[in-house]
Amino acid sequence: MIISNDLSSIGYNTFGIDVTIDTFIELTDKSDLRVIRKNILESGYYILGGGSNILLSQNISKPVIQVNIKGIELLKDAEEYVLVKLAAGESWHEIVLWAVAQGYGGIENLSLIPGKCGAAPMQNIGAYGVEIKDVIHAVVAYKLADGNEYTFHREECGFGYRTSNFKTKWKDDFIITDIVLKLSKPGFHILNTSYGAIEAELQKRAISQPTIEDVSKVVISIRQAKLPYPDKIGNAGSFFKNPIISIELYENLISSYPDMPSYPVDDVSIKVPAGWLIDQCGWKGRIVGQTGTYKNQALVLVNHGKATGAEVFNLSEQIKASVLAKYQIGLEREVNVW
Ligand code: EPU
Repeated sequence: MIISNDLSSIGYNTFGIDVTIDTFIELTDKSDLRVIRKNILESGYYILGGGSNILLSQNISKPVIQVNIKGIELLKDAEEYVLVKLAAGESWHEIVLWAVAQGYGGIENLSLIPGKCGAAPMQNIGAYGVEIKDVIHAVVAYKLADGNEYTFHREECGFGYRTSNFKTKWKDDFIITDIVLKLSKPGFHILNTSYGAIEAELQKRAISQPTIEDVSKVVISIRQAKLPYPDKIGNAGSFFKNPIISIELYENLISSYPDMPSYPVDDVSIKVPAGWLIDQCGWKGRIVGQTGTYKNQALVLVNHGKATGAEVFNLSEQIKASVLAKYQIGLEREVNVW
């Protein structure tokens, strides 16, 4: 365990916001949890993954805990699949590359998503037709209230679009220490290339029988073209969730805006892309002081250098207000504000 005081947050959040973290605790071993349990139960705390989904709006006085425990363990090697246990501190993208190199399938569409394994199930990371819930076998978590370790199987985790029980009803109760993924072995892969941009890119490369490696490469190139590199332009990926609206509202809107894209959800609701709504409100690529939206994807708010968290937050409020005024849709942040 490494404890630091009065640490600058630069380097710990992909938005590149500079605030002071009073107490920073890096956990390097599971046994560290027992040592800090009582103290952090009293003070409250924040858990930091890769810092890729947070907006720091002020100096942080509660302890910030980073789970940096590493480890990859093959729990089961069956004919059709493997069960792999990954410690929370492993980098998600490194794991995707590792899995692809081993010939293990199921997470290739989730290439290049920043962050660490422990944070991935929290908000059920997803991209290009795949969500982590599709391959999660179990989540291992430490319960602060009693100091015990619990294993939750996929059905117990309450996964939904960018959400899980860890983010909602169990918020702050558990620290995720490991995730167990069920990945397919060669000959048993089920590729998901239905997403328009993947299909188009495969065609462009004249690949008709893609491998998991091809899909990973294609996803990496699509993301690189659409999303800014955090080390060049600070950002936290999609700032808002894609809103799920009633069919009734959708029908009203589509008569006035026939080009509005949408994705089916169920009989009573439908999802519309927040990026499109924000773009239509004229925000795409706009620069507002040190912040703004990215030129290739309006859903991504960016830091042009010296933005404060408050500045980015204010911009997000302005964007919400204009989308509400034009479309009667209230956007919800995907990024966590501290
Ligand atoms: N669009 C615009 N203007 C924009 C942005 C998007 O018109 O500025 C339109 C696009 O043309 C498209 C639609 O909106 O018709 C959707 O855009 P895109 O395919 O880029 O995906 P998204 O819905 O904006 C979601 C996830 C991303 C994920 C991609 C690919 C959310 C909140 N975001 O974005 O996840 O990579 O799909 O699957 O669900 C993240 O969560 O941080 C993230 C990057």
